[in-house]
Amino acid sequence: MKSSPEDKLNQIKEYFKFLNEIGVDFLDSCCEVGPRSWFLPQIEKAILNCQRCSLAQKRLKAVPGEGNWQAKLMFVGEAPGEEEDKQGRPFVGRAGQLLTKIIEAMNFKREEVFITNVVKCRPPENRLPRQEEIVKCSPYLEAQIRLINPKVIVALGKVAADFFIPGNLGMGQLRGNFFYYRGIPIMPTYHPAFVLRNEGRKEIKQQVWQDMKKVMALLSRQ
Ligand code: URA
Repeated sequence: MKSSPEDKLNQIKEYFKFLNEIGVDFLDSCCEVGPRSWFLPQIEKAILNCQRCSLAQKRLKAVPGEGNWQAKLMFVGEAPGEEEDKQGRPFVGRAGQLLTKIIEAMNFKREEVFITNVVKCRPPENRLPRQEEIVKCSPYLEAQIRLINPKVIVALGKVAADFFIPGNLGMGQLRGNFFYYRGIPIMPTYHPAFVLRNEGRKEIKQQVWQDMKKVMALLSRQ
């Protein structure tokens, strides 16, 4: 259904209010409403300076995410690990190398998709992010999704799946099915780190690939 001009105006107003709330000072870089690409660096800047939760005190570098702001496909993981914290880039450790292979097997280059995490700073000792940290960080991911407006999002692992699909279903039940978040199809699948921890279990790798084939099929229909 096409939205009316009033609806569109209200969406824009709501969006600007939202950017303002998370500290994105868009007037810094433009004096009138500019293209969407102007806002991604602003969101990135807000993340790099973020002090909204205690993870900020222990991080080496915040990890906003990277890739194409016009990406059709977005990957969302849990939180940066040790290597990501050092480099300020998402998925660059062992799990990241596997993710890169998966992306390439899907016929994409890493720089053609957008890769980020639910939580943008490393939790100490790689513990799971706490609910309050996820809540504090969520405006950033929401802003990235609104800007990029991908055709599909792959949620890597339970933390990402729970962000989009609240409920008590386990990954075994969630994976392989599309769910919807603000009208965007979400494909939950196993986290690459889980695949690596279970290297002997071939079926897990196969299931991830089945899930990615569904994503490719959906993209090819659009
Ligand atoms: N695991 C994640 O969930 N995200 C990263 O960026 C790296 C490892």
